[in-house]
Amino acid sequence: MRITIFGATGRMGQLLVRQALDAGHVVTAYARTPGKLPLTHANLTIAAGQLDDDQSILEAVRPADAVIEGVGSESAATRRIIAAMDTAGVKRFVVVSTCSVPDPADRPDLKFKALVQLVRTAAPRAWAEVRSAAEAVRASDLDWTLVRVAKLNDKPATGAIKVGHYGHGVVDLSISRADMAAFLLSQVTDETYLRNAPAISN
Ligand SMILES: NC(=O)c1ccc[n+]([C@@H]2O[C@H](COP(=O)([O-])OP(=O)(O)OC[C@H]3O[C@@H](n4cnc5c(N)ncnc54)[C@H](OP(=O)(O)O)[C@@H]3O)[C@@H](O)[C@H]2O)c1
Repeated sequence: MRITIFGATGRMGQLLVRQALDAGHVVTAYARTPGKLPLTHANLTIAAGQLDDDQSILEAVRPADAVIEGVGSESAATRRIIAAMDTAGVKRFVVVSTCSVPDPADRPDLKFKALVQLVRTAAPRAWAEVRSAAEAVRASDLDWTLVRVAKLNDKPATGAIKVGHYGHGVVDLSISRADMAAFLLSQVTDETYLRNAPAISN
């Protein structure tokens, strides 16, 4: 498949690009700092651009069968990517989200509520932006999946990924960036969580 990745120069994003190429996908990596992606591959195009450059975003999205966004708390960028996907007629959108975004299927316990409150207090802008981005994704006509994570680490991939909703005793708080990348990539060809917001952890 042809996959366009936003956030490709990040710690998780670089793992995602590599995994996608290893799986035989054709990847466009959109980056404001292309030099941070130390990769060359016949199936990799690095598209240089800022997140407010609608034309560059459209050009990066146009050839894609699916888009994965792992930029973080930048809701304006998410809206621009959605608009570009609408224009280009690209439907599949897999988006990194966080535990600050609630879902009706969650049953948050006290510990979980305290964590989200801590995030809200310590990083109010990020808290608000990630929720605003999720609202835009949910309101879109795209085939979206919001993949919610709480805390990332740099441990090796385990392949043991728990998927569910918060507060049901299944999903924990921490996941490796390598496993997160693998889950995001799997969603491109998996419709299980279409228009859904699963939480994942190790
Ligand atoms: N760290 C955590 O514990 C945690 C928890 C929950 C969710 N997340 C989310 O998980 C994803 C991966 O996390 P990570 O720690 O691996 O990410 P990271 O290393 O911080 O990388 C973030 C990526 O987003 C890009 N980016 C951020 N702000 C941007 C802006 N204003 N304009 C253009 N590009 C921008 C960065 O580009 P540059 O390389 O050019 O800076 C980079 O490619 C992110 O979406 C993050 O928000 C992380």
